[in-house]
Formats: sequence, C-alpha cells, structure tokens
Amino acid sequence: MSTPENIHTTFDSILQREDKESLLNQKGLVVWMTGLSGSGKTTIAAAVEKLLAEEGILTQVLDGDNIRSGINNNLGFSEEDRKENIRRIAEVSKLFVDCGIVTLNCFVSPTKDIRQQAKDILGDDMLEVFVNTPFEECEKRDVKGLYAKARAGQIKNFTGLDAPFEAPENPFLDVKTVGRSIDECAQQIFDAVLPLIRK
Ligand code: ADX
Repeated sequence: MSTPENIHTTFDSILQREDKESLLNQKGLVVWMTGLSGSGKTTIAAAVEKLLAEEGILTQVLDGDNIRSGINNNLGFSEEDRKENIRRIAEVSKLFVDCGIVTLNCFVSPTKDIRQQAKDILGDDMLEVFVNTPFEECEKRDVKGLYAKARAGQIKNFTGLDAPFEAPENPFLDVKTVGRSIDECAQQIFDAVLPLIRK
C-alpha cells in the first residue's frame, strides 16, 4: 500500500535500527509461534524469554489473549478479523524489531494465507515456529476450558473444530510438544535462535 495523502513519514530522521541494535548488542527478530489454542505457545515463549534474558537479550512476548484484550479488543474470530488481528500484530512487531528487540509472538495464526500476510510485512525478520501439538492433545489438556465450551456449541469458529488450522509446511522449526517438557521445547528454540540474535 502506498503512503496516504498528507502523511509525511520521518523514518529517515530518526535513529536507525542498526544504531539501536548496537546499543542493545543484539539483532531484532520476530519468532512467530503458530499452533492450536492451548498448544503451549505462550508457556514455551515465557521459558524462551527467561533463557534469553539470562544471555542479556531483551525480548517482548506478544500473545493472543493479551493483544485481544487491548489493541485488538474490537476483533473477533471470523476469518476477516483474524486476518486484521495478525496484520496489526505484524505491524506492531515491526516496530519492536526496528527497535532491536526480539519479539516472541504467540498467535494461532491458523492459515497459510494469514501467516503469509505477516511474512509480507516482516520479511526475513520473521522466523516461523510451529508449536506442534495435535488437536486431540490440546483438547485433552484443555487448559482454558475452551475445547469443552466449543464442543458444547458455546464458541463458534473454534480453531480445529469449525474453523481451519493449516499446519506450516516448511517452518523454521517444528517443535513437537507431546512427551517433551516445556524446558526441552524452549531449549530447542533458544538453541536455534540465539546465533541469529547475537551481533
Ligand atoms: S488468531 O486465530 O487470530 O491468530 P489469536 O492467537 O489472536 O487467534 O487468539 C487465540 C486465543 O483466543 C486462543 O488461545 C483462545 O484463548 C482464544 N479464543 C477465543 N475464541 C477462539 C476461537 N474461536 N478460536 C480460537 N481461539 C479462540
């Protein structure tokens, strides 16, 4: 999309991303976790954040429940709203990345189309991580009780039930959670991303 009329951007006069990355001694990056509701995205991200903090890396965790109670509280779960949800999140992430911060994004981001939209906005700064927990397992865990509600017909357009989830075909990482601890999953992500973050 081109810049709208009467908007004069000032990107060229503000401190550049490289300056901020040097300040922080790290590279900005978006680790984009996709997976079903209750697959463990935010729990794993919190553990990754802890590991990175021990290395002196500044991070920001963004997740569906938090973003949807604030900046995106006017959006629901129709395909159109999910798309707008992810578009705004990708733009917000871009601001963090331009500040040199490592953003750990935890969003269902259920379709290839939706994730492609984020990739179009973030380019190579986005690493797609599949938090690979099968539907049956998420339903068994049902940490938020949403699967029971969805089965009872109290939630419409529930991902994996009456709304689609398309697993990524070629993710940067495929994190299988069944039979593995949170720490093991977090370590897998940490080991893969740390070399890309260190300046
Ligand atoms: S996304 O599809 O637009 O990427 P997002 O990650 O922001 O979804 O939000 C998903 C979270 O919202 C889930 O973890 C769950 O707690 C809650 N939720 C509420 N309704 C639904 C629904 N119909 N489908 C999926 N998640 C839902």
